[in-house]
Amino acid sequence: MEEKKLNIAKSIYNALNNENITLEEIESKIETPKDKQNGDFAYPCFNLAKVLRNSPVNIANSIKENIVLDDSISKVEVVNGFLNFYLNSENIVNDVLMKIVEEKEEYGSSKEGEGTNIIVEYSSPNIAKPFHLGHFRNTVLGKALYDLYETLGYNVTGINHLGDWGRQFGILIEGYRRFKDEYNLEENPLEALSDIYVRINKIAKEDEEVMNIARENFKKLEEGDVELTKLWKFFREVSLKEYNRIYSLLGSKFDSYNGEAFYNDKMDEVIDILDKKSVLIDSQGAKVVEVGDNMPPCIVLKSNGSTIYATRDLAAILYRARTYDFTKCIYITATEQILHFKQIFEVAKHLVDEKYQKGLVHVSYGMIRLKTGKMSTREGNVIYVNDLINDAINKSKEIMLAKNPELENLDEVSKKIGIGALIFNYLKNGKNKDIIFDLDETLRFDGETGPYVQYTYVRTKSILEKVGFNIENINKDEIQYNLLKEKQEVELIKELEKFEAIIRKAANEYEPSILARYLIDVATAFSRFYNECSVANCDDDKLKEVRCTLVYATSIVIKKGLSILGIDCPEKM
Ligand code: ARG
Repeated sequence: MEEKKLNIAKSIYNALNNENITLEEIESKIETPKDKQNGDFAYPCFNLAKVLRNSPVNIANSIKENIVLDDSISKVEVVNGFLNFYLNSENIVNDVLMKIVEEKEEYGSSKEGEGTNIIVEYSSPNIAKPFHLGHFRNTVLGKALYDLYETLGYNVTGINHLGDWGRQFGILIEGYRRFKDEYNLEENPLEALSDIYVRINKIAKEDEEVMNIARENFKKLEEGDVELTKLWKFFREVSLKEYNRIYSLLGSKFDSYNGEAFYNDKMDEVIDILDKKSVLIDSQGAKVVEVGDNMPPCIVLKSNGSTIYATRDLAAILYRARTYDFTKCIYITATEQILHFKQIFEVAKHLVDEKYQKGLVHVSYGMIRLKTGKMSTREGNVIYVNDLINDAINKSKEIMLAKNPELENLDEVSKKIGIGALIFNYLKNGKNKDIIFDLDETLRFDGETGPYVQYTYVRTKSILEKVGFNIENINKDEIQYNLLKEKQEVELIKELEKFEAIIRKAANEYEPSILARYLIDVATAFSRFYNECSVANCDDDKLKEVRCTLVYATSIVIKKGLSILGIDCPEKM
């Protein structure tokens, strides 16, 4: 499609033959109308009216008269100052289906990112606490971005910047010592630890002596005290064990779990560099870096000399530039941290080359609220992702049992559907949209849902199985693509054609919802096609063969699209 767009832009450019109007400008204005009645591409002439001192309609007409187009375009029409271009559908049908048959599972992938390193930092929970809904949204977004970039050929590194350092571990250690015997740490270690933390934190806030012990604990931990380090490692290990169980269900990929603690010994250098550049300023005993008039300064050292969250992030930027030579380093967090990232990206100017500093990107996502108030770890009414996943799987099991009692692998299928429903529900919403969390809504199976798209895939498989169609046994040179002429056939193929451009757009805009919504469009187009055109019962063998090829092509796109989002397809459901 991109190629076609460029070709049309070139033709318009030549037809206009005006040095005040650039090819890039024209290309950027070309739209793809939602309603195919208005063509496959449309070029609005309104912005030319000023430069050409003529009305948009006149301009459109004169372009139409002068334009030279190749045979991939079947017609051009002028409608209200728009030029509407219609693609020659025979060409598309050929080009797209041939490409899918040729490339199979590789369809939609590209090599454009080859040799370019991209970091996707995501999930990054604070350890010793259960995984909650915010982490879930973060994790599914990050995994999708990881795969989008990988599909485009980039060399992607997934980093889980665990929140595994800070004074709170001094507090937790004290609580653990006091209360551990009251808990069953084998069974629910994270719930136990977070409960212990809440209890001891309350005490420490009221009792300065306890707070001092906590401070002392953390100081010892920073210095590498053997016994305390052992405890800290235990907290980290039980946390990761639990998180990894969830990550494997969501398809998350991490190449590094270097969290905040990893930078404990790497912050002195940061302070040193900033100091040498004379940008460290004393402010009420603390050391800060000015980051412009619109933001408060970034605190790097507190007045007691200790480092903070931001200091560790600065050390991470330096380390990642050196270790990964990244072109982009993407951070995913909730919107609460927008200011934090603005500040550290500003300070990074003093630490790393411009090319790295310019590659720092913060991707934030909206809030998830429970029906009552904001979700918080302190209020108690939190939904743990563990419970949520179990609920989703159980509910999908019930539905499957009712629908298809004979289904084999019920457990496995329910797992794929339940988790698929959850992931899709989050990813179909734009990342900035706040989500009001409603369990029933999340687990709905009809309409614009994950199970609906999965079900479309299962349908393609069962049609192909029924017909006994196997792409490997088909003589590819003899497929008669030109037999596909029905409107629904062509519409479906036009959807499949967009796949690669959609992947690129979703990656460029850090917006997996673009892919999720696209998959709904593909499923809908498939359903229209399947309602109108008989496949298994088609009496024309050649037509049957090429329709099966179209069904096969649809299965490829849906399976791959869902897998990028972290959703597995069952073969039957
Ligand atoms: N651990 C933090 C939290 O849970 C998120 C970390 C984000 N990444 C970073 N490099 N600061 O709020």
